[in-house]
Amino acid sequence: MTVDVPPHLRDRDRHGDADAQAGLVDFAVNVRPGPPEFVAQTLRGRIADLAAYPSAREADDVAGLVARLHQRTREEVLLLGGAAEGFELLAHLNPRHVAVIAPSFTEPERVLSASGARISHVTLDAPWRLVDADVPEDADLVVLGNPTNPTSVLHPRADVLALRCPGRIVVVDEAFADLTLDGDRLEPESVAAETTDDLIVVRSVTKTFGLAGLRAGYLLAAPELIARMTAGRRHWAVGTLTLAALAACLGPQGQEYARSQAHLVDDERAHLLAQLSDLGFAPEAEPRAPYVMVKIPQAWRWKHELAARGFSVRSCANFEGLDSDYLRLAVRPREVSDALVHAMQDVRNRLETGAPTR
Ligand SMILES: Cc1ncc(COP(=O)(O)O)c(C=O)c1O
Repeated sequence: MTVDVPPHLRDRDRHGDADAQAGLVDFAVNVRPGPPEFVAQTLRGRIADLAAYPSAREADDVAGLVARLHQRTREEVLLLGGAAEGFELLAHLNPRHVAVIAPSFTEPERVLSASGARISHVTLDAPWRLVDADVPEDADLVVLGNPTNPTSVLHPRADVLALRCPGRIVVVDEAFADLTLDGDRLEPESVAAETTDDLIVVRSVTKTFGLAGLRAGYLLAAPELIARMTAGRRHWAVGTLTLAALAACLGPQGQEYARSQAHLVDDERAHLLAQLSDLGFAPEAEPRAPYVMVKIPQAWRWKHELAARGFSVRSCANFEGLDSDYLRLAVRPREVSDALVHAMQDVRNRLETGAPTR
């Protein structure tokens, strides 16, 4: 009997959190465990402040901290309720023709197409090299992720900057950049410190610091672009707890924590890759983010089987340029990965022998 891919896995609005059901060990969502205690303590300490509106002075101080971190000016920083809010604000730039480098995170496309912009997918094939991107000449906004979700590819910064051209704005989603390493060097391909009028860099702290439920991020751009993006934005858009979290995550203790997480991810990812390789699975490009993507024929069936064994994984069936043969796995502690790979071995045995599945 041939069974087809369940249609909901192709739903463009579906994210990994839809797979991370209670009771399953979560490999579907790419958020690191957290928040770390120093962040949690900071947040607890601010509960008493919640009767007041968020302080403009505090927001200014936090923006100053972000600016120093990325060698930018205070005016080039916009604090956000998560990177996702940054994508929403892009619509205020009224782009006519948006080129989305695919495969990639679906939110920018979703909000920009809802705003009426024409969208073109610039779809890369494995190993997803940005130099191969054939971007339409008239695209006035180009969006890409670096590192890219879900491929985990980290594009060279020179290739990112080569997308710039007169009349165009390039948006780089660096939501996972703080976990990228080259040897001991953090964020080797980030363009966050690049001061040009035509570049918007969107960043998040929700992944590394386990704060997805809080909504906290920022973007870096020319003041003129920030003014256009925030025209009509509501007052007090960024809450007191988000401001406090940003200060904690981007201050010295937070940055030390991010560095240690980046090294931990490096180690845990190498372990996961070695285990997957023993099973005969290898990514088609070197993974550099806290997740790996593997191609397994009929991977969506594996997803179903793994759920029956207590593990949630992300099907890539709804990403432009990918299909239901791709799975994305979050990087987890070694022993947790071992348990997943053990379950994968079991799935393979059952699928290969045609034994009844669970
Ligand atoms: C590549 C990428 N960018 C941005 C986001 C959203 O980040 P935030 O939680 O800061 O809104 C996600 C969330 O999954 C993501 O995968």
